[in-house]
Amino acid sequence: MKILIIGKGFIGARCAEVWGEEAFVSDKIIDSKQDVLDLLVEYNPDVVLNAAGVRGKPNVDWCETNQEETILGNTKLPIIIAEACQEKNIYLLHIGSGCIFYGESPDPKGWKESDFGNPIPVYSRSKWAADLVLSTLPNVGIARIRMPIDYIPSPTNMIDKLATFPKVIDVENSVTIVEDMIDVFYKLMEKRAEGIFHVTNPGTLKHREIIALYEELVDPNHKNEWISNDDLVAQGLATKGRSNNFLQSENLEKLGIKMRPIHQAMRDTMEKYAKLKK
Ligand SMILES: NC(=O)c1ccc[n+]([C@@H]2O[C@H](COP(=O)([O-])OP(=O)(O)OC[C@H]3O[C@@H](n4cnc5c(N)ncnc54)[C@H](OP(=O)(O)O)[C@@H]3O)[C@@H](O)[C@H]2O)c1
Repeated sequence: MKILIIGKGFIGARCAEVWGEEAFVSDKIIDSKQDVLDLLVEYNPDVVLNAAGVRGKPNVDWCETNQEETILGNTKLPIIIAEACQEKNIYLLHIGSGCIFYGESPDPKGWKESDFGNPIPVYSRSKWAADLVLSTLPNVGIARIRMPIDYIPSPTNMIDKLATFPKVIDVENSVTIVEDMIDVFYKLMEKRAEGIFHVTNPGTLKHREIIALYEELVDPNHKNEWISNDDLVAQGLATKGRSNNFLQSENLEKLGIKMRPIHQAMRDTMEKYAKLKK
């Protein structure tokens, strides 16, 4: 399978590394549909993965005051990539975010792919806006991920972030193990799977469990303070409250695509992470 990855950031580069010669990752900045068409002519891919987007630096709070850039990168860009792929009849897998859901889900088992998002922050709104329109198109899949956790240490990795924050929020979430995510993306592209997919490992994970594993396997001297999600904004550590939620993944199940249960995958990830840290 010849894969064109648009966006050479954390996830685009990570996928390219695993897929090797099957993938080409483009870091060309896309401004128009023609830019995408040019890439499609140049690389002649079987499928496209849109891994480009704007998630704010140093974090999503940046998006609150940089609305235009955020909307261009997360709403307009996926639409023009989709337009070009539709024109050339090429399957597109777009990376969405599970952070479009806030509060209690209607179903106690978690938010479903078919549920409507209810986002407040600019970043999440711009991601949900793209999902709303792209999910109406044939030959397009949307893979929603949440808090990607990788075994490769880097400042963008969730493990590194949690380990360096002096104050960590005491929350529980559906999360995505990057190794499993890359495998699922590949399978979705192979199947040209249409619709929305929650690419999160079965089960939920507490930040406390990640830190406990970090202290067990990486640094027994690690210390941090625990705060509530409301404290994050109240103490001026963030502009907007973060989304914490549980997602159901019915659509992957229908395709027979499985991810490892989260506690098994998280321990394996932390063991690999610990080896690379030494
Ligand atoms: N990482 C997460 O926690 C997370 C969670 C849920 C969903 N996602 C989604 O996953 C996708 C990839 O995220 P990531 O973590 O890999 O982010 P990232 O490291 O910031 O990478 C995004 C890449 O997209 C590029 N880009 C932005 N605008 C572009 C444009 N107009 N044309 C071409 N490239 C453009 C950026 O280039 P510059 O660096 O030059 O701006 C950057 O290389 C995004 O859609 C994000 O919303 C990420």
